[in-house]
Amino acid sequence: MTQVQDYDSSSYDYRDYWNGRSYEHLSEVAFLKKLISPDDSSFLDIGGGYGRLSSLYKNFKFPILLDYSIKNLKNADKNLIRVCADVYNLPFKDGSIRHAMSVRLMHHIENPSDALEEISRVINDDLILEFANKDHFIAKIKHIFDHDFKNNDVYFQKHKKDSQGWKDSQIFINFRYAYIISILKKSGFIIKNSFSISNFRNGYAKKIFNTKFLVSLDRTFQPLFKKSFFGPSIFVHAIKKNITNKEAFTNIEDIFCCPKCKGNLNKLSCYNCGITYKKIGGIYNFKG
Ligand SMILES: C[S@@+](CC[C@H](N)C(=O)[O-])C[C@H]1O[C@@H](n2cnc3c(N)ncnc32)[C@H](O)[C@@H]1O
Ligand SMILES: [Zn+2]
Repeated sequence: MTQVQDYDSSSYDYRDYWNGRSYEHLSEVAFLKKLISPDDSSFLDIGGGYGRLSSLYKNFKFPILLDYSIKNLKNADKNLIRVCADVYNLPFKDGSIRHAMSVRLMHHIENPSDALEEISRVINDDLILEFANKDHFIAKIKHIFDHDFKNNDVYFQKHKKDSQGWKDSQIFINFRYAYIISILKKSGFIIKNSFSISNFRNGYAKKIFNTKFLVSLDRTFQPLFKKSFFGPSIFVHAIKKNITNKEAFTNIEDIFCCPKCKGNLNKLSCYNCGITYKKIGGIYNFKG
């Protein structure tokens, strides 16, 4: 069975990760702002945590924050549509979501091919997908010092034992660009553009230069970074190959389906398999 990185299995508070990382946060926000323009449709943030990036999509008509962790969702803006679910089994009808984004989720995904198939199933327009880049500049240098020239696998997986208090081993995966592109295409996406973001994610650079300067440097050298896949974080903007004409919906519950059997729901109960899902404290819980 595919393992899921469960942020609820430890006392770790993901918000703490962002202390001292304003450069990384602001360079992602500055970049994403150019790609996201709110409209009267839906925007889905997959594995969106506590909604760190929600200022970018909160003005869509249906801003949906989806995450596997109830704890993270409880820490999010209550005005978002908060959905607790697993990316491998999304609780949305086929093609019911217009725009989607997933940032810093892929490095926890053991089976990216299955996850992207499922994401593709629900999207009817575009996806911004971030992944941790196996071939970034500093990793390449490290490989030289480690005499690690033969690491030609499509991706590698590194378990950091209990570094943040998790009981089980954690999933941290860096992917090759070509591999992610191939599975995006296989899942029905056309690649529009790719970018290398927060390229100065380095302790020394952050000590020497101030955040604003580094963010602007990141933007200035974007064409160069983009070509060389320089940085540790790559963003791909992809469009669905077959966009269909969908009727607009008025109530979010109209696009929910059973994540297990994909059957229709009646007041969160599945007509098909009989499972009833719950909405507690404003959060739709499809985790089961
Ligand atoms: C590193 S955090 C990134 C959060 C947010 N996207 C951000 O950039 O701040 C990874 C998030 O992915 C969620 N996650 C991990 N596995 C998941 C899965 N199978 N389905 C949905 N969310 C998952 C975790 O609960 C966590 O909130
Ligand atoms: Zn069902």
